[in-house]
Amino acid sequence: MISHRNIAKLGTIVLVLANLTLPNVTFGQQIPSLRDTFKKDFGIGTALNNAQIDERDPQMTAFIARQFNMATPENVMKSEVVHPKWDTYDFTMGDKLIDFGEKHNIKINGHTLIWHSQLPSFIRGIKSQDSIRTFFTDHIKTVAGHYKDKVYSWDVVNEALNEDGTMRKSVFLQYLGEDFVTEAFRLAQQASPKTELYYNDYNNEQPKKRAGCIELVKKIKAAGVRIDGVGIQGHWHVGKVPLKDIEESILQYAALGVKVMFTELDIEVLPRNFQGADVGQRMVANEQSNPYPTALPDSVQQQLAADYEALFKLFLKHKDKVTRVTFWGVNDANSWLNNWPIRGRTSYPLLFDRKNQPKPAFYSVIGTKK
Ligand code: XIL
Repeated sequence: MISHRNIAKLGTIVLVLANLTLPNVTFGQQIPSLRDTFKKDFGIGTALNNAQIDERDPQMTAFIARQFNMATPENVMKSEVVHPKWDTYDFTMGDKLIDFGEKHNIKINGHTLIWHSQLPSFIRGIKSQDSIRTFFTDHIKTVAGHYKDKVYSWDVVNEALNEDGTMRKSVFLQYLGEDFVTEAFRLAQQASPKTELYYNDYNNEQPKKRAGCIELVKKIKAAGVRIDGVGIQGHWHVGKVPLKDIEESILQYAALGVKVMFTELDIEVLPRNFQGADVGQRMVANEQSNPYPTALPDSVQQQLAADYEALFKLFLKHKDKVTRVTFWGVNDANSWLNNWPIRGRTSYPLLFDRKNQPKPAFYSVIGTKK
């Protein structure tokens, strides 16, 4: 027989259990899912860091799986990580990311095969064209070969252009000449024939750099080599998102017959005296450089929400051309902008705050579908 007292006890137990499951709020089950909201429009991606790939926090894993259907390794597939010595490769973390993707139904965009930054340190000692060519060829063959049929796509070449549209003076340009970009795509295609192949850069929505980027795409195609898409990184600034340049870029890249994607989206709210995302560029800290150490003022929060809303309206307008939108980090705590171009700042560039709680910008993005 169940007495009143027992029923009351039961009630208490139910309440306690309900409260225990309350932390579910932080799992993010109560808020809409970005990947579901935009599932008919474009993929929604995020950059993943070591801790996230390692699944150190189950709540974080569940959150990622619910919000995103595509992911880019923030660092673990860069050459300094996967190719630490001349003839040594280390795919430990990259392989974990592949498992993560399979487990959670998330497509992986490999990032990146050829980039002038985060190169293995042994590169600095190489001074001959032959050796650079050998590194270049072996690297692409081995890494793209290892991830054949495992990654959905590759950022084959990252950031080969200067702001004026000319080629950046990288070790690859210096030793291999301008054709290294086409060669990289040719090698990637051979090593991983079914993988989508992209060129990725920042500021390539700006007219001059865009013109250089268009030339690159044309050159690759003219050589009979496949390129499937152009990635616009999208490291922009609050109140200054270049919507007109972005729209022109979507149209002009798409006119070349390639997909367009936004690959590293974040909107900086902290002071900066230059645009773009040249990782080699740094700023000296001063008293004004970290203005919001505890919270983002409401006016900036609202501007951030308005900027994201305008961007997603534009992406939706061109959803036949835009295939993916990837945020550079899951939440504000993960953002590289806390440490670049000045270390130890407190930035707020993403849709989720430091506890994975949705910011007004999240709701303004979701609202673009209503
Ligand atoms: C950044 C990472 O977020 C940082 O953790 C790392 O220290 C430096 O690189 N353009 C790119 C990305 O293509 O790979 C960069 O990622 C940010 C700029």
